[in-house]
Amino acid sequence: MKLLVTGGAGFIGSNFIRYFLEKHKSCAVINLDKLTYAGNLDNLKEVQSDPRYRFIKGDIIDAPLVESIVREGIDLIVNFAAETHVDRAIGHAGDFIRTDVYGAFVLLESARSHGVKRFVQISTDEVYGSIEKGSFKETDTLMPRNPYAASKAGADRLAYSYWATYQLPVIVTRASNNFGPYQYPEKVIPLFVTNALRDIPLPLYGDGMNVRDWLFVMDHCSAIDLLIEKGRDGEIYNIGGGNEIPNVELTQFILDYLKKPRTLIKKVKDRQGHDRRYSLDCEKLKKLGWRPRADFTQALQETVDWYVRNEWWWDKLKSGEYWEYYRKQYVDREKD
Ligand code: NAD
Ligand code: DAU
Repeated sequence: MKLLVTGGAGFIGSNFIRYFLEKHKSCAVINLDKLTYAGNLDNLKEVQSDPRYRFIKGDIIDAPLVESIVREGIDLIVNFAAETHVDRAIGHAGDFIRTDVYGAFVLLESARSHGVKRFVQISTDEVYGSIEKGSFKETDTLMPRNPYAASKAGADRLAYSYWATYQLPVIVTRASNNFGPYQYPEKVIPLFVTNALRDIPLPLYGDGMNVRDWLFVMDHCSAIDLLIEKGRDGEIYNIGGGNEIPNVELTQFILDYLKKPRTLIKKVKDRQGHDRRYSLDCEKLKKLGWRPRADFTQALQETVDWYVRNEWWWDKLKSGEYWEYYRKQYVDREKD
């Protein structure tokens, strides 16, 4: 089986490539990634010399490039490529529309022209919007509430339309918040862990009571793998970890585990349009035999340990463009 993975140099994509190459010995993987600030070939050091793996630096909106790759004979496309950070989307949504929506269109068109046997569109639970009580099912109305979520919802429905209109075998996955190794340190867990290790304040938005459902990245990878094999064309699948926790408790857990003082928590101005709670009903996926295998506390501790051990990986990311962006965000919030 020959896969085209897009955005494979990012957090989930790189974990997925490692997982897939390990599990499927006779597969070949092409990783097409633009290497934006979030793409990092350090994430793939273990597989870079594997003859089954090939990296191509490029943009998914580049139709001739995508066409030239898919024409080689691709069985399966897994589209992870996206702009992914909600805070960056607020006020600077252009790249999100361009990559997340138009990029998905380019890939879908190419898949359609060349008879790709399966197209997995990696969507997100954010497309549903916020839920105070209960959990979202795949049939619930989409109500994305920030430009990132809206661009993902656009791609999610565009992918479905290629099934409904052209019978392109599309599957859409909607996962909850992932955590694990190699996550860019702008997302809350790696940001807070690496800040704490440097004794830098942890900027907790609003009252800290927003709830996220945490999914260990390897459980996300196993779900995608299962869906490649057993998912039904044209269907949507929620993928949740079942680990809901308010941000303030998550923050305290990280500080306590690292033996850092809780006084490092700095309550700052809330994110605009901050979704209060995400929660997914995953019965549809569980009926196919999937279960999240990670124990949340243990996986979180192992994740924190990974960042402690791998300062070489994040040290260079916490400078330059990232640092400028982060400082601006943080200082702007502190002013209010
Ligand atoms: P990430 O930001 O770590 O990585 C995104 C990758 O996409 C980077 O390697 C980047 O270089 C690449 N990319 C961006 N624009 C591109 C373009 N135009 N062409 C080619 N490559 C491009 O993201 P992530 O957290 O690994 O998320 C991966 C996917 O999973 C995204 O589609 C995201 O919406 C979805 N998702 C993420 C989470 C989460 O908690 N992180 C949860 C649910 C769904
Ligand atoms: O739910 C899936 C989504 O999870 C993915 O689709 C997105 O790509 C991914 O970025 C993530 O979105 P969130 O906005 O939930 O993740 P983030 O890590 O940015 O924030 C998690 C929570 O922590 C959220 O309630 C905001 C809060 N937060 C975040 C940051 C960066 C803070 O309190 N302080 C911070 O500095």
